[in-house]
Amino acid sequence: MTDLFSKFDPLIQQREELLSTGVTDPFSLVMEEVKSPTVAICNGKETILLGTYNYMGMTFDEDVIAAGKDALEKYGSGTTGSRVLNGTYQGHKECEEALREFYDMDHAMVFSTGYQANLGIISAIAGKGDYVIIDIDSHASIYDGCAMGNAETVPFRHNDVEALEKRLKRLPADAGKLVVLEGVYSMLGDLAPLKEMVRVSKEAGAMVLVDEAHSMGFIGENGRGVCEEQGVIDDCDFIIGTFSKSVGTVGGFCVSNHPKFDVMRRVCRPYVFTASLPPSVVATAATSIRKLMHGSNKRAHLWENSKTLHGGLKALGFELGTETPQSAIIAVIMPDLAKGAMVWEALLEEGLYVNLAIPPATPAGMTLLRCSLCAEHTSEQVQDILGRFERAGKAVGII
Ligand SMILES: Cc1ncc(COP(=O)(O)O)c(C=O)c1O
Repeated sequence: MTDLFSKFDPLIQQREELLSTGVTDPFSLVMEEVKSPTVAICNGKETILLGTYNYMGMTFDEDVIAAGKDALEKYGSGTTGSRVLNGTYQGHKECEEALREFYDMDHAMVFSTGYQANLGIISAIAGKGDYVIIDIDSHASIYDGCAMGNAETVPFRHNDVEALEKRLKRLPADAGKLVVLEGVYSMLGDLAPLKEMVRVSKEAGAMVLVDEAHSMGFIGENGRGVCEEQGVIDDCDFIIGTFSKSVGTVGGFCVSNHPKFDVMRRVCRPYVFTASLPPSVVATAATSIRKLMHGSNKRAHLWENSKTLHGGLKALGFELGTETPQSAIIAVIMPDLAKGAMVWEALLEEGLYVNLAIPPATPAGMTLLRCSLCAEHTSEQVQDILGRFERAGKAVGII
């Protein structure tokens, strides 16, 4: 009889090999205490957090916390129901109103996670007989949305405008087409050339969906993302985002100006067939989104942090995922998994947490130490981080 677990053997073996070198397991770290958006206690030690998606540092904002406590007391701990039955409270509507204002768009729909937003919108829009054209480095939720909808998925080379255009030209002129892009690609922290990509997509008669998970709150004059920064927000049919990064809680959303958008509430299965977010979560999200509308000082400081860390790591001799700092993510490329895990552990011993990212999540089989900066990191913390990288990199012998 076939062992249904046998397909996981290579993964189990990879982990066993890694742990047999004596390295601490990089994927089971516990945050024993969280003191602020940038500091936690890990293994009993005060640790600077450089591997969270808390870009704007909203998790400890006092207005956000007060809104959450108030909603918890007034409305209870959960809705125990779907958005389309008993699970839409006043707070969900207010959260959608905050998103409409944030993006200056006609429609907003809140999902329970960003994963579900991609799953729901992509699968509902592009069904059997339609085409979804996606960057090969797309997030898993985009791939899963394509699979769920049963449309023909057409991948193209990462950030390659010509490849996208060629794929689009090969498709039947009258077929339904949805191009799905991301503003910031989270593994290397690089930006998509959205201006050109949106143009060629529109010329081919495709609808365009942009996932701005890693740019909301930070990139663009009003923090609306790379679409705003590159002047194409009005040409995007759907923007997908998450509350689990800059917003600082959990949840997902889609905003759109499409006149028929409201029908999505009836046809997106990951919206209909799951429980809605707890009242405390939508209250924290709405408060955070409204504060992010006035976040220009924080955005400026986060850019400073990103530039200082990128320049400093480069000067130390580390190989980075991008030539210049493009977002709040700076990926440090490791020679291999074993060395990557050693540097990761050496950094943790130094009191610095970063994300170790390994295949298949990474492009081209790379092992990465992904650093994600926060607007609440002080300039001193960033200098400290550079010192810790220098010591860890030298101890392992990669710089
Ligand atoms: C590009 C992208 N889209 C969607 C998601 C899913 O977001 P959530 O954590 O809200 O499910 C992520 C999460 O990492 C992401 O990186």
